[in-house]
Amino acid sequence: MTSGAHTTRPDGATTTDSRLIQTLMVALRTAQMFERDNAATKAALAEFLNEYAERVRATGTVRIDSRNRTLFVDEERVRARATDYLTVRRLLGLLDERGIGSVTITAGVTQDEIVEFVYVVARGQKKGVEDLARELEAAQVRHIQIAPPVEEGVLTGETSSSLHTYSACLDVCEELQKAVKTHGQIRTRRARRVTQAVVEHVLSDEASLLAMSTIKEFDDYLFNHSVNVAILAVAVGQRLSLGKTALGDLCFAAFLHDLGKVEVPREILQKPAPLDPEEWEEIRKHPTNSVLLLLRQQNLSQSTLRAIIGSFEHHINYDMSGYPKVREKSSLSLFGRIITVADRFDAITTAREYRTVNFTPYDGIVHLIMSSRKELDPVIVKLFVEVMGLYPPGTVLGLDTGEVGVVRRPPLPGNPVNRPEIYMVRGLEKGSLVNLADKDANGNYPRNVRLVFNPENEGHFPAVTPDDIARGEGAEPGPTPAVSADFDAECGESRAEASA
Ligand SMILES: [Fe+2]
Ligand SMILES: [Fe+2]
Repeated sequence: MTSGAHTTRPDGATTTDSRLIQTLMVALRTAQMFERDNAATKAALAEFLNEYAERVRATGTVRIDSRNRTLFVDEERVRARATDYLTVRRLLGLLDERGIGSVTITAGVTQDEIVEFVYVVARGQKKGVEDLARELEAAQVRHIQIAPPVEEGVLTGETSSSLHTYSACLDVCEELQKAVKTHGQIRTRRARRVTQAVVEHVLSDEASLLAMSTIKEFDDYLFNHSVNVAILAVAVGQRLSLGKTALGDLCFAAFLHDLGKVEVPREILQKPAPLDPEEWEEIRKHPTNSVLLLLRQQNLSQSTLRAIIGSFEHHINYDMSGYPKVREKSSLSLFGRIITVADRFDAITTAREYRTVNFTPYDGIVHLIMSSRKELDPVIVKLFVEVMGLYPPGTVLGLDTGEVGVVRRPPLPGNPVNRPEIYMVRGLEKGSLVNLADKDANGNYPRNVRLVFNPENEGHFPAVTPDDIARGEGAEPGPTPAVSADFDAECGESRAEASA
């Protein structure tokens, strides 16, 4: 068991785990039968509150998970004795019926929130976890979160679906941020397991997780962004043959790189217009904020130290411009240089209200190539382009055969970066998958990319050639004025700021 004032029984379970589960179940059962002013209900709620208070004093948060018909309290399996068995089974059944996989209670929870939570969940047998979460939100319950189940495979590092891995990452980023906001201390055990799951996933099936990182339809930009940066960074780290532990640390550092934004006012972060100089000053503080928040951790492990350096450096350019300003010209850490490239790519390819034109992933790749050597480490940019391909998943390509396709997978290692696998949407082979790296009987490529479509501005511009990549320069963005003007305007320092 981790820490705290609980005693361990000979079978490995702890008395506080057991009492916590018992009192929660009694409170839920009582709430199913009686109203709030009933004496039995009040007594049951008070008991649960006592148990929770004892537990939270030791650990800061309490998390109850239901996975594979097993209950976990703070990631420790609750091993029920004969006397507890029925309670554990009932609680599993109740959570399962409502689609709840986890309940997280964070420090600062009030008695009213506990009462609301118990009633909403106890009486929500016909509802799903999303509806219940909305009810809790409407009832102003802010310190108790419920979430759907995460597959065991995600947490044990086995290969599982990219969606499950991605959702587990979003949960962890949210948890890390909440923990810092509520009690300053981050709990790294769950984060570690998820980072290892990301590493395993990238090692076994990189393409599906990369494809998830190009979908930008999630509600909260910051969590979505942190997860995308982590996936992209690990994929680059893999090309550098980093070991699993280093890749896990890189993922962890990327999860935390923008942590300092918790101290930047929300109105500034979400302002739907360009920022004024004072607001930029606030934004520019976030790398230093991250460092200070991480330095407050009781346990400064190797991975936390690497995260501190990575978060400090992620807006410092390769030529030492950017921010925070550093006096001495020194070299940047490998983690810092990788996170900077991944951060830049994800930030500029995410639609933001203050931009007049949104950039496609292809625009993002072109930007990285154009910024390499000066702002970005050219070696990391080269590896990044190998990872994503010149035309990242989702890019719409026009071919010299007149066909049109959507990129499904980046080129396999060893293939030219401009020859991905595409799904044909127009042409004779409509509906089929075609690998542009396949040659015909004469050893020639039967199809070549001619155009990249940008659905945002209905225009297109000539594709960058492999020659441009070799020179590390990138082609002129081409004849679409809206793209060219905005692209140029946002390059350089101001573009770096947009990627904050
Ligand atoms: Fe960022
Ligand atoms: Fe940032």
